[in-house]
Amino acid sequence: MLGGRPRRETPFSKWPIWGHEEEEAAIRVVRSGSWWRYGGLDVSGFEEEFAAYHGAKHGIATTSGTVALRLALWTAGLKAGDEVILPPYTFLATATSVIEQNAKPVFVDVSPDTYNLDPELIEAAITPRTRAIVPVHFAGRAADLDPILQIAERHGLTVIEDSAHGHGGAWNGRGLGSIGAMGCFSFQASKNITAGEGGIVLTNDEALADQCRALHTYGRRVGGTNYEQDQMASNYRMTAFQGAILRCQLARLAEQTELREANAARLTARLSQIPGIAPQRRGDEETRKAFHLFLFRLDEQVWGVRRKRFVEALGAEGIPVTAGYQTPLHRQAFFTLPEFGPYTAAFDQDPTLDYRQVNCPVAEHACTSEGCWMHHAVLLGTEADVDAIADSFEKVWENRLALA
Ligand SMILES: Cc1ncc(COP(=O)(O)O)c(C=O)c1O
Repeated sequence: MLGGRPRRETPFSKWPIWGHEEEEAAIRVVRSGSWWRYGGLDVSGFEEEFAAYHGAKHGIATTSGTVALRLALWTAGLKAGDEVILPPYTFLATATSVIEQNAKPVFVDVSPDTYNLDPELIEAAITPRTRAIVPVHFAGRAADLDPILQIAERHGLTVIEDSAHGHGGAWNGRGLGSIGAMGCFSFQASKNITAGEGGIVLTNDEALADQCRALHTYGRRVGGTNYEQDQMASNYRMTAFQGAILRCQLARLAEQTELREANAARLTARLSQIPGIAPQRRGDEETRKAFHLFLFRLDEQVWGVRRKRFVEALGAEGIPVTAGYQTPLHRQAFFTLPEFGPYTAAFDQDPTLDYRQVNCPVAEHACTSEGCWMHHAVLLGTEADVDAIADSFEKVWENRLALA
């Protein structure tokens, strides 16, 4: 940035990674002429394999992760005016899926060392209308599930894991997404396995699985006849193309997860030596960590440099760091507008929830100053790639006075 040579001059691993398996799968589906989920076994096969990989009995594949979340909330029986507890440091779909279900997002702040829902703050947010908690396994770091499940049980709440970043992760040996009542994954282009778009709901409960499956295809009862719909729903089905590609991607997941974990451990060890850099804390219960992002905190005070400048400097060294979310969900414009479009008629008339009054200082600080990410693809290279990242951080640290 100040005129020298970048530390890293070659790009990191591309994403997505594919091979002849994905190419052959796509061609096979084209030639089969069976392009929807019911024409062949690609979608049902993927559902079974992905569910089994995470230790869940059932999987219902969907068009996206957003739809998976909405379907799970719907399956849980959420109604207008019900409240759902979730963190404000997450992708907006975690909250908009709640609004689409005519329910109210209730934001509870995150823990500073994980950016995941802080279990200590949950009970104070529970009211007689609370129905569900949606912990997010942010960046692939498992939410603190033990206390969350205990609180949910005490208050009769449904836990729906937002596992959009959690592919292949495990909590005390159990697959993420299979631990709460339901777990929702995304297969959007950036995710750790992808078909461009896609999602899935996992559950171990047969009745929830049947209801979710019915809702994802017009409300058609499992075992019912084609033109009998006894509940209002819509079409959220995955195509055979997505299913076929995702089966190939799933076959790569174990090896890629292992590589990301090894590289992330090396990177964490190096970056933890640098003042003012704090990688997301790994929990003892995380027996396998997904690493959708390599998340770390920057202490601008220690560095004497603003995050924007820090990100620019690493970019100039060839290291793709981003500042991530700049606005926590409760500060997004659509939460502070007087009405919410076609949704939440009851919501608009409810004076008890004014998002301008919501205060989540940890998430706010994460967005305005502290949070930084690198995409998981940077962890899919060699040890030399990891060292280039760490060397670049050190170089920028040593030259920080020139950046201020
Ligand atoms: C935490 C989180 N939840 C939900 C979603 C929604 O997934 P999709 O983009 O597949 O709709 C995303 C994805 O981008 C996400 O990051």
